[in-house]
Amino acid sequence: MEPWQRWPLLLLLAPLLLLPSSASASCELDEEGNNCYCNFSAPNPEWDRIAMCISSVQADIDGGGHNLDIFLQKVIADPSKISDILRSLRLKRLRLRGAQVPAPLLHQLLKALTYTRIEELSLVDLVISMPPLLPPSFSDNDLRLKALHLHRVLWTGEGNLLATVGPWLKPGLKALSLTGLNLSYVPCPELDAFGELNSLDLSDNPEITENGLTSALCFSKLQALKDLALRNTGLQSLGRVCRALEATETNVQRLDISYNELGGKPWPQCTWPPSLLSLNLSHANLKCVPKPLPKKLQQLDLSYNLLRKQPQLPQVTDLILEGNPFAYAGASARLQREQPTEDCAVLSRGSKFAGATLAFLVSGTAALALLRWTREFA
Ligand SMILES: *[C@@H]1O[C@H](CO)[C@@H](O)[C@H](O)[C@H]1NC(C)=O
Ligand SMILES: *[C@@H]1O[C@H](CO)[C@@H](O)[C@H](O)[C@H]1NC(C)=O
Ligand SMILES: *[C@@H]1O[C@H](CO)[C@@H](O)[C@H](O)[C@H]1NC(C)=O
Repeated sequence: MEPWQRWPLLLLLAPLLLLPSSASASCELDEEGNNCYCNFSAPNPEWDRIAMCISSVQADIDGGGHNLDIFLQKVIADPSKISDILRSLRLKRLRLRGAQVPAPLLHQLLKALTYTRIEELSLVDLVISMPPLLPPSFSDNDLRLKALHLHRVLWTGEGNLLATVGPWLKPGLKALSLTGLNLSYVPCPELDAFGELNSLDLSDNPEITENGLTSALCFSKLQALKDLALRNTGLQSLGRVCRALEATETNVQRLDISYNELGGKPWPQCTWPPSLLSLNLSHANLKCVPKPLPKKLQQLDLSYNLLRKQPQLPQVTDLILEGNPFAYAGASARLQREQPTEDCAVLSRGSKFAGATLAFLVSGTAALALLRWTREFA
């Protein structure tokens, strides 16, 4: 008698033991069964492995740059025929990256997702081929997304990507990122449909300049918009950014314009939107603190600039200054002697730069100097 015949249980387990270890499998599911990650970078990916993600809440699929038109050769199932299964999925967040996706397949995916409870969809590093992307038909449901992220998605069809994906979405969208898409303007005609939008990220579009902002008249309609990010775009003058925002009458509270070359341009008169509470000017080549600052500013990130003097801004409760020359103690004294600090201030019609604040600033600086002096000579 063979040993395995004596232990039938072992026989049952054998196929399981033969499965490849999870380290070499294309898909991994975490212990709770919530997060699933698939890496299909291998030359001949085992696409079937994606079944592992069927019960996950968050699925992160890396297509390894493969062309997904292989799926078009098979007959694509009509998602409405499996709507019951789709409705039972727990899927809330789906991230698809690194693949060439034919538009008909994207259409089927969007259609299938309308039956699910998905809230967040991210499409990253994709090439959408074989346009056009058909709009939803009258019988199709809406895609009830709260967040849509499109990052470096190359669209080979006509028009822009948001205009083709937009018709699938419900107005309830809260967060939208259109990053790395080579946009040169704020896509207002499409944004108008999302009145509840509270976060808009247009970063990594180097062709968006102050002119693009000034013409973004939809900002006055997007009254729920609180977060605006324009990291690494084509902005060059903080004063003109301020003016553009002033012109659009936006209500934004947090503005991130880090990684723009904002130093060294003249400062036109301007009043920042009174709603502005947080301003990120990190990595912006600033040699001095811009003035005037938004009146109710609470958070200011000036990290990694060229400030040679520690700014005194008592009204800002959260001031981030790391990575500026003044922080390197020895070098800072020398630099201060060699180069007089530049003055960025321009009197603006809107800023009531109170004498009291100025006095406080001056006395603060004096106190600091006194403190240093006493320390050095004590
Ligand atoms: C994905 O798999 C490839 C090999 O197939 C490997 O080189 C790469 O590091 C993996 N990526 C990640 C993020 O694990
Ligand atoms: C953006 O433009 C660059 C240079 O023309 C190009 O290489 C890149 O593929 C474009 N990206 C997108 C998403 O259109
Ligand atoms: C400001 O922007 C920089 C660079 O984009 C980022 O690292 C930093 O976390 C941001 N600061 C805040 C307060 O969010």
